[in-house]
Amino acid sequence: MAGHGLDQPDLDRCDQVSATMCFDIREMTIDDYNEVLALWEACEGMGLHHEAEDSRDGIARVLDHNTGLSFVALDGGRIVGTIVGSQDGRRGYVRHLAVAPSHRRRGIGRALAERCTSVLRQAGIRRCNLHVMETNHDALAFWAKLGWTGRRDIIYMSGDTEPEAGPGGASR
Ligand SMILES: CC(C)(COP(=O)(O)OP(=O)(O)OC[C@H]1O[C@@H](n2cnc3c(N)ncnc32)[C@H](O)[C@@H]1OP(=O)(O)O)[C@@H](O)C(=O)NCCC(=O)NCCS
Repeated sequence: MAGHGLDQPDLDRCDQVSATMCFDIREMTIDDYNEVLALWEACEGMGLHHEAEDSRDGIARVLDHNTGLSFVALDGGRIVGTIVGSQDGRRGYVRHLAVAPSHRRRGIGRALAERCTSVLRQAGIRRCNLHVMETNHDALAFWAKLGWTGRRDIIYMSGDTEPEAGPGGASR
């Protein structure tokens, strides 16, 4: 899917909504991994899987398969926000939206979400899904503010691709 972000400049100066806050957004690369992981570990509600999907190799695979859909927000060169986007040709998916606790409520989360959904829209994807823990009230309030709605009519099911995964597989 190379080229999804081509209509966007690599780096938007001051992708800001507040007169008191100025930040940049650019595409995330695997070179950001260590700083991004530190941010994720500093944020609650991320549900990280360090050994697998959220390892360096796991994130590299997502970025490779979904060029132009993941972004970082920067304040003075420091990464203060992330979003990891993907799509399967039919639906978009958002993961790992996170904003540093010191930088919340300044429009960074909204800007990251809108950047990702804008690229999906340009790729012809009309709907986007994400998972939120039911106890993550901040994230639920945030997404509701952006107009996203919860689906009570769908049960999220999960299975392992490894036949010998054993107990605990369903929680991964
Ligand atoms: C959820 C999160 C990304 C929001 O980031 P943020 O940069 O603070 O959000 P924004 O400032 O862009 O807020 C956008 C809107 O949501 C609202 N909002 C944000 N957090 C909110 C909260 N906890 N409760 C109620 N409303 C909230 C804002 O008031 C704003 O509304 P407005 O545009 O009408 O003023 C951030 O709290 C976070 O990183 N949480 C921990 C990680 C996490 O849970 N990620 C989501 C996983 S699905």
